[in-house]
Amino acid sequence: MRMKWPAASDSASNSDACARSSRTLRLGRVSENDQVTKQRTLGAGVYGRIGLHFYDAGVLGISSMLIWRCSSTRTLAHYQANVSANHLDVGVGTGYFLDRVTYPSTTPRLGLLDLNGNSLTHTARRLIRYSPEIYQADILQPIAVGAEPFDSIGLNYLLHCLPGPMASKAVVFDNLGPLLKPGGTIFGGTALRHGVRLPLQARAFMGVYNAMGIFGNSNDSLAGLRSELESRFDDVSIEVHGCVALFRARARP
Ligand SMILES: C[S@@+](CC[C@H](N)C(=O)[O-])C[C@H]1O[C@@H](n2cnc3c(N)ncnc32)[C@H](O)[C@@H]1O
Repeated sequence: MRMKWPAASDSASNSDACARSSRTLRLGRVSENDQVTKQRTLGAGVYGRIGLHFYDAGVLGISSMLIWRCSSTRTLAHYQANVSANHLDVGVGTGYFLDRVTYPSTTPRLGLLDLNGNSLTHTARRLIRYSPEIYQADILQPIAVGAEPFDSIGLNYLLHCLPGPMASKAVVFDNLGPLLKPGGTIFGGTALRHGVRLPLQARAFMGVYNAMGIFGNSNDSLAGLRSELESRFDDVSIEVHGCVALFRARARP
């Protein structure tokens, strides 16, 4: 259910999840999924305040190019090619690409959806110039945020954080279905373990991250990603850079 943020006295009775994200009150059009799950994957949990400060320079600046071999410049170009003026981003991290991309409008409608309240608060502050809509929800569960559908949905570097094989984590595409307009674009990038050239350093880091539970992509393959996308969407295209698949697809009419 989409709702305006309640007055301070009302929020006291809300769930723990609501309380955690109460700092988003001042950040614009704020909404909340009233079925926010308590389930937390480590993939979402590592983005504490300190982790978020490290993320832009460490993960997007260094790891993307040196380890995964897909530069942030390349990923930004993917955003640029696919973002619309009515965009929902899922698994927002720090909002790095959302901050740098040029939207087709100076007043885009921008939705931010994440399980982690820190990521939402950090990103909403960074993008306050767009008065983002904020949704805290677990994308592995059916989403009931009651938002008007979007023309584009980005989920960058999210799939490889989710646990389980591609066939089960692809449920995110089903969960996002009601939030994407017919003909709308879904796009993003994900680091794969199989079917791509895996640089030695990527193999090592991926092993450690999977063991720690930060990544859940030990079984993710290019063929698996393609098959999950093609079974749900039209015009699937995937470009591989290093071990990262940059994908895009169109929602069926
Ligand atoms: C690696 S970051 C990606 C950040 C950003 N999209 C980028 O490209 O830099 C993964 C994000 O997904 C979020 N996340 C992880 N599991 C999630 C889940 N089950 N539901 C919603 N968000 C989740 C994390 O909190 C984090 O913000």
